[in-house]
Amino acid sequence: MIAETPVPVVDLARLERNLDRMAEYATRHRLTLRPHTKTHKSPRIAAEQIRRGAAGLTCATLLEAEVMAEVSDNLLLAYPPVGEAKLQRLLSLPETCQVTVALDSRDVADRLADAAARRDRPIGVLVELDLGMHRVGLPRIGEVVELARRISQRSPLVYRGIAFYPGHIRQPVSRQAEALHQLREGLRAAVEALDRVGLRPGIVSGGSTPTAWQSHETEDVTEIRPGTYVYNDRSTAQLGACDWSDCALTVLATVVSTAVAGQAVIDAGSKALGREPPEAGHEGYGALLDRPEVEVRRLSEEHGVLDLSRSDWRPVVGERVRVVPNHACVAVHLHETVHGLRGTRLETSWPVVARGRQPLRASVPVFG
Ligand SMILES: Cc1ncc(COP(=O)(O)O)c(C=O)c1O
Repeated sequence: MIAETPVPVVDLARLERNLDRMAEYATRHRLTLRPHTKTHKSPRIAAEQIRRGAAGLTCATLLEAEVMAEVSDNLLLAYPPVGEAKLQRLLSLPETCQVTVALDSRDVADRLADAAARRDRPIGVLVELDLGMHRVGLPRIGEVVELARRISQRSPLVYRGIAFYPGHIRQPVSRQAEALHQLREGLRAAVEALDRVGLRPGIVSGGSTPTAWQSHETEDVTEIRPGTYVYNDRSTAQLGACDWSDCALTVLATVVSTAVAGQAVIDAGSKALGREPPEAGHEGYGALLDRPEVEVRRLSEEHGVLDLSRSDWRPVVGERVRVVPNHACVAVHLHETVHGLRGTRLETSWPVVARGRQPLRASVPVFG
């Protein structure tokens, strides 16, 4: 029995099904699965991903890497480690752990090489390409080749290949063909250019949840890094990359007011659900698992306003509801503990261990 709300709850059967399905997909298409742990931030779930065949894990923060090193000896930091403090944390990961970093600049590569040399520690590197996301990643093939060449000459860095993130592809799955075609062409051109100069990438790492099930159609890809698939969320369902019945994570909330006609207020606001936008053509910040037509229309920090206009359901104060958030990863990060339900029975709970970023030590300068 869960005493207080709002809290994130996971339907364990759905979680297990989501884990199985992605593991089977990767095996079927001979793709290395390196799930992104930013979604669950929890070694317990990471261990389940590894048990099902994941070859390693992806992390965005140093805290994620430190936590995940407990369960995996093969980590990718898919984020440029900038600054001495982050470099030292990276190099302090257990020696038994093979560490790879995705980066897109000579500057970060050189500093990483210097720091790694001082610790006499080999670090793998993937050169990050921009294939349309326009976030990180080199947009021009010439620059990719140049950086790959530099890394291959900068021991103890080990050039392992290339990485990209197709996060710009947010069309529904049925309408992704054109964007995936462009991605494929861009990737092909980069792989061929690297091949021509003797730097053929051993690893071509990409993948997101909305594009996950089409990964095998991009032939150059060797490794996929979906994260959201473990829990899924309203966005993933809106894009058709999962069914509504695959949404494993909800925020359990309680109706606290029905005073205003046409709406009900729950105790899950932006600090429990996140204020993440819905996908194009949709509204609201989440929807009820059992009544998806009831959307969270407005949010304050501790209040979520449910729009009842498309439903004849009339809740009473004290009634509990399960809200599927727009973005599971952000919702999870807002909570300390996640509860696992088997049917309606509380079976287990686990902490969101890699939540936050670890406190800065007083001796470390904050800027500079
Ligand atoms: C670099 C990188 N790889 C993989 C992922 C996983 O994508 P998704 O959340 O769609 O599963 C993300 C998500 O933010 C990412 O930033």
